[in-house]
Amino acid sequence: MSADYAVQGSIAVITLNNPPVNGLGLATRTAAIEGIRRAEADNAVKAVVLTGAGKAFSGGADIKEFGSAKALTEPTLHTLINAVEGCSKPVVAAIHSVAMGGGLELALGCHYRVALLGAQIALPEVKLGLLPGAGGTQRLPRVLGLEMALNMVVTGTPVMSEMLAGTALFDKLLPAGADLLAEACNFAASVADARPLPKVRDRKVEFPGHEAFLQQSRASVKAASGPFPAPLECLETVAASVTMAFEDGLKFERERFLHLMQTTECKSLRHAFISERAASKIPDVPADTPTRTIAKAAVIGAGTMGGGIAMNFANAGIPVLLLETKQEALDKGLATIRKNYENALKKGKLTQDKFEQRLALVSGTLDYSAIADADIVIEAVFEDLAVKEAVFRQLDAVMKPGAILASNTSTLDLDKIAAFTKRPQDVVGMHFFSPANVMKLLEIVRGKETGKDVLATTMALAKKLKKTGVVSGVCDGFIGNRMIEQYFRQAGFLLEEGATPEQVDKAIENFGFPMGPFRMSDLAGNDIGWYIRKRRYVEKPEVVYSKTADLLCEMGRFGQKTMAGWYDYKEGDRTAHPSALVNEMIAQHAAALGLARRAVSEQEIVERLVFALVNEGALILEEGIALRASDIDMVYLTGYGFPLHRGGPMFYADTVGLTNVLRSMAAFAAGRHGEAWRPAPLLTRLAAEGRGFNS
Ligand code: NAI
Repeated sequence: MSADYAVQGSIAVITLNNPPVNGLGLATRTAAIEGIRRAEADNAVKAVVLTGAGKAFSGGADIKEFGSAKALTEPTLHTLINAVEGCSKPVVAAIHSVAMGGGLELALGCHYRVALLGAQIALPEVKLGLLPGAGGTQRLPRVLGLEMALNMVVTGTPVMSEMLAGTALFDKLLPAGADLLAEACNFAASVADARPLPKVRDRKVEFPGHEAFLQQSRASVKAASGPFPAPLECLETVAASVTMAFEDGLKFERERFLHLMQTTECKSLRHAFISERAASKIPDVPADTPTRTIAKAAVIGAGTMGGGIAMNFANAGIPVLLLETKQEALDKGLATIRKNYENALKKGKLTQDKFEQRLALVSGTLDYSAIADADIVIEAVFEDLAVKEAVFRQLDAVMKPGAILASNTSTLDLDKIAAFTKRPQDVVGMHFFSPANVMKLLEIVRGKETGKDVLATTMALAKKLKKTGVVSGVCDGFIGNRMIEQYFRQAGFLLEEGATPEQVDKAIENFGFPMGPFRMSDLAGNDIGWYIRKRRYVEKPEVVYSKTADLLCEMGRFGQKTMAGWYDYKEGDRTAHPSALVNEMIAQHAAALGLARRAVSEQEIVERLVFALVNEGALILEEGIALRASDIDMVYLTGYGFPLHRGGPMFYADTVGLTNVLRSMAAFAAGRHGEAWRPAPLLTRLAAEGRGFNS
């Protein structure tokens, strides 16, 4: 049973009991409805209190049932709500902590609602590309009024119960420390004989001039919702609460809900939601693997990455020491951190207290003995194996036993780094993305000998630092950068064939990336890729790149930092202006290669860049570098700006159909650099089986 039933005097108490947040799964729904039937049948019971055990009234749908047939198995949430609303005895919802989604819809089906102050109230379905499908869009406006309900349904943002005081949502609001159950039982006793029973469905939504208001809302919701259809659908269903009778409104809600369920945008959002949870599971590292305590951290190198990484620890309340070789570099790094926090303070993103607390948690040193007792140390020095070797040998010599030794390397072999120490089991990669204090992605690189407890600890730490941790095996570039190299290679070839940087960027931005590859390179610095390519020319001479990016760097055009890159920039302005000089360089280079330039379609640009990601992703999956296709999607959604409404590269390939992906790849293979389009065996196999990466 996942709802408990008890009778206290003349009141039946039904307690939803499905930890952690009383998700309304099949067993809970069944037990709750059974409770209502028992209460109806018991002559000694005069009223019912419906509440939740533990941390919530109810957080809504049970995510374990997501997308499964169980969610639609009777009794559905609709049936439960109907049973509650149709109960011949008063049902009082006793709400504490959280009433969200289906949980709030259930409370709205009750005849009365008593709540504690501080409870979070929300209909967050829009965040998963849906709308509340169990009457929420029709009942919430009937208790909060059109405007407030519309805001809540369209944004999905939780609102504290105190903000809703004075509305018909609550019959009684109690101070945070009150005995909710006792008070709710008293309230239930006081209304035991009240008839007729008040039902939210019987209320009317009064809003004179609603058409003008709705028209205005439509315009602003449309403008804010980008490619996602759900916010506007939410608006239209809430609007139905004014324009339609209750039952018609419910039918409309159902119809729009089922429609949204089938949209790619909704499927993508649900995929991202489920993938984020899946990413934290490592098959051979059980959830109960013991973790090490992380109470003190150190970071080696106070440059671009080191400073951002240190801020993550300070933000999570963990003291962190930055180590540099020279006082000047240390001072510079610490000053940057201070400046970042000052900016946050100025923008009102930090209170004065938090500002001081965070700064106090960051300090610097030039001395390895000062960091020896840290529980974790993250190395973020130059991307040079010899420099890393010196650092790791030093760390091995000074760090206390059991300390985790992590490297932020983006391309180097973690197993080689681990071999510089006598404790390779303690070595792990923690690959942050720039700016490290902002970007959500953290690739956790598992070396050959990385200990399971070290992995479990770094995954737990990722959560504490509010990052999405994704495990990657060791390979050049790990999951994200190894794939992005193929994307950039195609972008370079397209320039030689006839596209301009702005055409390529525009196509990819229209697809949904916030920035195309060339604007992106200008932002990050073209010299970084140049440096990596120079290494590759030696290590992997067989891999061909377009020379245009090297020629650009030879022109000294490193990007925004030199006010010239693929685009021209003006002082103090990040707007990218197409550059005649660069376009001329590209044309000359193409002529030197003997290439006749052709018009390249937007579709070809998107397919060449995105399918290049997909094919490399398939290789990565097959080699076991990524544990699952959805991990690759998480890397791209949280670290590379892949459009959320398309669900990540592997999910996107599934929606296109792998056979279609292969067909386009075969056409590209007939063109220049066809070897880049040799399909990954996994891709071919799945397509032949009529399957996708995620199915
Ligand atoms: P950076 O050049 O901004 O900073 C490196 C810092 O390390 C400098 O402040 C330098 O003084 C210090 N340093 C050098 N040798 C040292 C030593 N032996 N002991 C102590 N400090 C030393 O470089 P950045 O960009 O912060 O990169 C650091 C690492 O992070 C590299 O491995 C890089 O591949 C990786 N990374 C960089 C990303 C980026 O976007 N910049 C993204 C993800 C990883």
